[in-house]
Amino acid sequence: MTSRTYLRYPAALTLLAVAGCDGPQSVLAPAGREAGEMASLFWVMLGGAVLLWLLVNGLFLYVTRINPRKMSRGWAEALIIGGGIVFPLVVITSLLGYGLSSMPQQRLPGDGLVIKIRGEEWWWRVEYWPEGADKPIVAANELRLPAGQRTEIKLTANKVIHSFWVPAIAGKMDLIPGRENRLSVLPEKTGVFRGQCAEFCGLSHALMAFRAVVLSPDDFDSWLRAEAAPARPPAGGAPARGRDLFLSQGCGACHTVRGTPAAGRSGPDLTHVGSRLSLAAGTLAPTTENLVNWIRQPGAIKPGAKMPAYDDLPRADLAALAAYLKALE
Ligand code: CUA
Repeated sequence: MTSRTYLRYPAALTLLAVAGCDGPQSVLAPAGREAGEMASLFWVMLGGAVLLWLLVNGLFLYVTRINPRKMSRGWAEALIIGGGIVFPLVVITSLLGYGLSSMPQQRLPGDGLVIKIRGEEWWWRVEYWPEGADKPIVAANELRLPAGQRTEIKLTANKVIHSFWVPAIAGKMDLIPGRENRLSVLPEKTGVFRGQCAEFCGLSHALMAFRAVVLSPDDFDSWLRAEAAPARPPAGGAPARGRDLFLSQGCGACHTVRGTPAAGRSGPDLTHVGSRLSLAAGTLAPTTENLVNWIRQPGAIKPGAKMPAYDDLPRADLAALAAYLKALE
């Protein structure tokens, strides 16, 4: 192996690391006020660290290689007191002051909309509470936010601690059973971002993700109106047969589809599941084929999932169920 081959590995690793800094789940590609502040904090701290590293190593090189002569006692003492006490004190205090100055803004109240999110095993229960509402608009496994408006997110959990994190929008915050944590976010760019549970919460922790969709305020309002409406009854064919199966197979014991007798609360609300951008909490692409596979054996896709397998249903029934769910837009 030549020395150039050795050099290739660190170069490839650096490229990989840098490639990870972009995309829909990156703290370094901020799309929200809070994430932007944290990205600036990171760059300022990194800049400071690099400068100090260069300074310290430069001095070290200077006294050991470039000018290795004996120093007078006065100079040595001045260097220790100045460089070892005064300089770090000034630098660390100013960096601390800068860091603290960006903190209070994460606790501001919202502009009206409150979203309550409850961590379940392993999915997200999402409730939209527009200002003055007496009951929420219930959804699951996807978060939609208006751009340019501050939204207050109230976080809690069912049984174990989870952590809510959309790196492009804001920092992470734990969801703790029996407690309500508040997070205030101000998304600034529209787009689709990825969120991920950031606290180990059991078997399928890594599969507990979601999409966060930031819409313009007008788009958000019309989306919320559509989300609040009950499900449209299927026109006929496979979706209608799927609806009958959905009700006769007992899916409604765990799932709600507003506008039908299905009113279960232990699983995700499926009223508009067909319009979501992912299935099984960010785990699968929202295709009919994936819906079939999911209903047939949820545990094979998401270990530990509470939903039972329906692998005894004929393929045609699974396809009809999937067609029904896909039509719930
Ligand atoms: Cu929920 Cu990790």
